[in-house]
Amino acid sequence: MLSFFSLIFFLSLFSSPCIHARTLPIYTVNPKNISSAVKNHSYTWHDFEKFQDASKGSLIDGISKLKRYFNKFGYLEAEDIVNSTDLFDSNLERAITRYQEKLGLPVTGKLDSPTLSAIMSPRCGVTDISNYTLKATENYVYFAGQPRWRRNIPLTLTYAFSPKNLINSLSMEDLRSAFKRAFEHWASVIPVKFVESDDYGFADIKIGFYSGDHGDGEAFDGVLGVLAHAFSPESGRFHLDAAETWAVDLVAEKAKTAVDLESVATHEIGHLLGLAHTDVKEAVMYPSLRPREKKVDLKVDDIRGVQALYGSNPNFSLQAFSESDMSSNGGADWRVGEDGIIIRVNWLLVLIWWLCM
Ligand SMILES: *[C@@H]1O[C@H](CO)[C@@H](O)[C@H](O)[C@H]1NC(C)=O
Ligand SMILES: *[C@@H]1O[C@H](CO)[C@@H](O)[C@H](O)[C@H]1NC(C)=O
Ligand SMILES: *[C@@H]1O[C@H](CO)[C@@H](O)[C@H](O)[C@H]1NC(C)=O
Ligand SMILES: *[C@@H]1O[C@H](CO)[C@@H](O)[C@H](O)[C@H]1NC(C)=O
Ligand SMILES: *[C@@H]1O[C@H](CO)[C@@H](O)[C@H](O)[C@H]1NC(C)=O
Ligand SMILES: [Zn+2]
Ligand SMILES: [Zn+2]
Repeated sequence: MLSFFSLIFFLSLFSSPCIHARTLPIYTVNPKNISSAVKNHSYTWHDFEKFQDASKGSLIDGISKLKRYFNKFGYLEAEDIVNSTDLFDSNLERAITRYQEKLGLPVTGKLDSPTLSAIMSPRCGVTDISNYTLKATENYVYFAGQPRWRRNIPLTLTYAFSPKNLINSLSMEDLRSAFKRAFEHWASVIPVKFVESDDYGFADIKIGFYSGDHGDGEAFDGVLGVLAHAFSPESGRFHLDAAETWAVDLVAEKAKTAVDLESVATHEIGHLLGLAHTDVKEAVMYPSLRPREKKVDLKVDDIRGVQALYGSNPNFSLQAFSESDMSSNGGADWRVGEDGIIIRVNWLLVLIWWLCM
């Protein structure tokens, strides 16, 4: 049975002109969809729009700024931006290619619409690639050396809010409940408990809102652009850009540039636990988040990554989770690799294959 389906699975991969092995519909990017908030002329990175369709050999005012962007997120070496010019050179082309591969975009080496749209999207400040991140065999990625909190499992981590670095637009109650939910997403899948503490000085995880340069060499940049960053274990530092319109309820908060606090918190907690950025677009550990987007549910990629560091919460079953996730998202997580799932996805591919004939 299995080999029959597997055969069809491989046949469908090689013979079908209209599907791509990894591009089930859920992954598609609309090339023309650079949201108006991201284009707005008062936001970080809005001016990259003028690079539309630039390719190797182009000389455009401001390209050196784009090179600094690629250096910041790990795609260009520091020596490539010393004395850098506004010439689109082969190093920049290589950086764009690596970026497109890492973010699951069509790989063209050019500044086409999907690529510019991704570049201009607000994102996490943690680098995507560096000698501090390592590609694992799966999609999820760790920091080099796979650091994690080295306490006996099950373990408890305390967290606290910096009394001096809060924002007025959020009540303490809203802030605490958004973070409680964010920590709970991870606590439900690993044997780690998170407990809020009043003792900021001694808390394992220290949370605060900061503006611009705040002393760790990773200055924040105003509205959108970089939203937040957090450090790998066992640092515990978690910083959010005070310039954002942080939202705990996107229905009540109407701003086009609102950023969902629970979504960003859930992502950054992944870094605090030891996960780096993944290339799985639906996963919480993907580096960017659109304004007003809510993305708080862990995906199989996130769960497998964090469980490889801490083990599973005994109350959680990945098998059951994968199956329910599968029926709700049409089977995009076929990389889970359990036979049951492969067979179901095979059926989906057969159907697509048949429709394409
Ligand atoms: C364009 O992006 C917005 C969010 O920025 C999203 O709500 C909308 O569905 C997207 N439109 C298309 C056609 O993909
Ligand atoms: C652009 O930003 C300005 C200032 O924040 C705001 O008043 C305006 O409504 C924004 N426009 C769009 C299209 O988002
Ligand atoms: C950068 O420019 C300075 C001054 O023009 C020069 O001395 C230096 O060697 C250059 N560095 C590189 C890496 O090209
Ligand atoms: C990582 O890069 C930094 C500087 O770019 C260097 O000092 C360090 O030795 C490198 N670490 C490893 C493990 O290669
Ligand atoms: C598992 O669930 C039980 C009962 O709800 C609870 O007492 C226990 O703390 C949970 N274990 C973990 C590791 O969360
Ligand atoms: Zn991140
Ligand atoms: Zn910081």
